[in-house]
Amino acid sequence: MAYKKMSAEEAASLIVNDDIVGCSGFTAAGCPKAITKELGKIAEAEHAKGNPFKIGIYAGASTGDAIDGVLARAHAIKFRTPYQSNKDLRTELNAHDAHYFDLHLSELPQYLRYGFLPRPNIAILEACDITDNGKVYLTSAVGIAPTVARLADKIFIELNKYHPKELAGIHDIYELADPPYRREIPVYRSNDRIGTPYIQIDPKKVAGIVETNLLNEVGAFTPSDEVTNRIGKNVAGFLSSEIKAGRIPDTFLPVQSGVGNIANAVLGAMGLNEDIPAFEIYTEVIQDAVIELMKQGRVKFASGCSLTLSTPALEEVYGNLDFFKQKLLLRPQEISNNPEVARRLGLISINTALEADIFGNINSTHVVGTKMMNGIGGSGDFCRNAYLSIFTTPSTAKEGKISAIVPMVSHLDHSEHSVKILITEHGIADLRGLSPIQRAESIIENCVDAEYKELLRKYLQLGQKGHTPQNMDAALSFHSTFNKTGDMRKVSF
Ligand code: COA
Repeated sequence: MAYKKMSAEEAASLIVNDDIVGCSGFTAAGCPKAITKELGKIAEAEHAKGNPFKIGIYAGASTGDAIDGVLARAHAIKFRTPYQSNKDLRTELNAHDAHYFDLHLSELPQYLRYGFLPRPNIAILEACDITDNGKVYLTSAVGIAPTVARLADKIFIELNKYHPKELAGIHDIYELADPPYRREIPVYRSNDRIGTPYIQIDPKKVAGIVETNLLNEVGAFTPSDEVTNRIGKNVAGFLSSEIKAGRIPDTFLPVQSGVGNIANAVLGAMGLNEDIPAFEIYTEVIQDAVIELMKQGRVKFASGCSLTLSTPALEEVYGNLDFFKQKLLLRPQEISNNPEVARRLGLISINTALEADIFGNINSTHVVGTKMMNGIGGSGDFCRNAYLSIFTTPSTAKEGKISAIVPMVSHLDHSEHSVKILITEHGIADLRGLSPIQRAESIIENCVDAEYKELLRKYLQLGQKGHTPQNMDAALSFHSTFNKTGDMRKVSF
């Protein structure tokens, strides 16, 4: 190995205040885990001396605690984009201690290339292998790694021995040309390979190699419960009825499924539904349920951007790489989440809403309109361009004190024009072809919890004449009542 090996501490000491760091990885999968931990210590020491120390951070999506958690607790984040899901970073950004820019994940690489965002001068990539001539084989995710590796002046590699070198071949690295030279992306099926299995970097840019042996910091999933199981069954039942109606081909279409426990429960229910044939996945995050369904022969192939798997599931994949490498492919996020590809392949997209309104608008990000939860992630990339766009949500949150379905969303991420189907544990509202008032009636009757139905019917009657019967005095009354009393059920009009 021609490159300089160094400790994480040494590598971190080469990163200074105001640097802009781009990391490999997507969710906690495939992120660097050693250098940023040392950077947190440096930031704390500098702050103790009264010196400033903050850096800009880009990663594919959220990261493990070793980046977002460590650096947030050290107050060392100047800005962060495009997604996060860390409790401590959430606190920092909601307190304006770190600037956060919420962004469609497919757009970040091109935003960096176009110069819309500050250029990352440093890249930290987690790799399972690197050759002397600069071929970098990533680990369990791709994210924005190809783009930050090309744009950065200095590259640090965390060579993580936990990930076998035999992973090489699972990645398909392809970077888009920018307008006016961009061509179509030649992905016509989920399993089409269009690039190389490695990132080619300029070996002269490698500033250091840090050897590690560290697990991904992917948290365990909360087991599914009655509500998530009922949502899963409703989604699977809806999709099987669409096949029977001839609106989904008998061969089915590739599925994109969002992050979290509901997504896992939905995929599980789809696997159990005998009307749904074995299917393909074209998504960003490949979760545990996909691996389970692959073993059962219910998922034929999965293309994604990361293997966001619990440790037992990842070890199962690594222990049977000959089997799984035939069925898994990891792409950069500007390809896994690309609107052109989503529209061409005809994805069935299933994402979770934080809040929906009776007219079919979706809030994926802001709690009661103000506090950022995670971010828009890939939900917009997919839902706007899918063949069929489904949003799921439990009908209530916080033991029923919050209705997830309100008169008007307190923050808008996906408008009524992107949302085709809304599904809760109570049922399904098929919004295709419905006028605003018809959508409201369908959502209230099929999706809303019994405790909120009458309140929302009353709201609809209060609506002023017009195509969309809103009442501007009462539109956010569910939220203002929650802020005053802690319980939306106490709303009165
Ligand atoms: N109002 C206020 N709080 C709400 C709420 C609402 N309408 N609905 C849920 N919450 C709270 C929950 O009570 C929970 O709070 P807690 O952390 O204090 O327990 C929290 O929000 C998360 O809810 P949970 O039910 O655990 O949801 P989840 O883990 O399934 O995540 C999203 C739901 C919407 C936050 C998550 O799917 C997300 O970040 N989506 C946006 C990105 C995306 O869709 N990516 C997928 C593209 S592939």
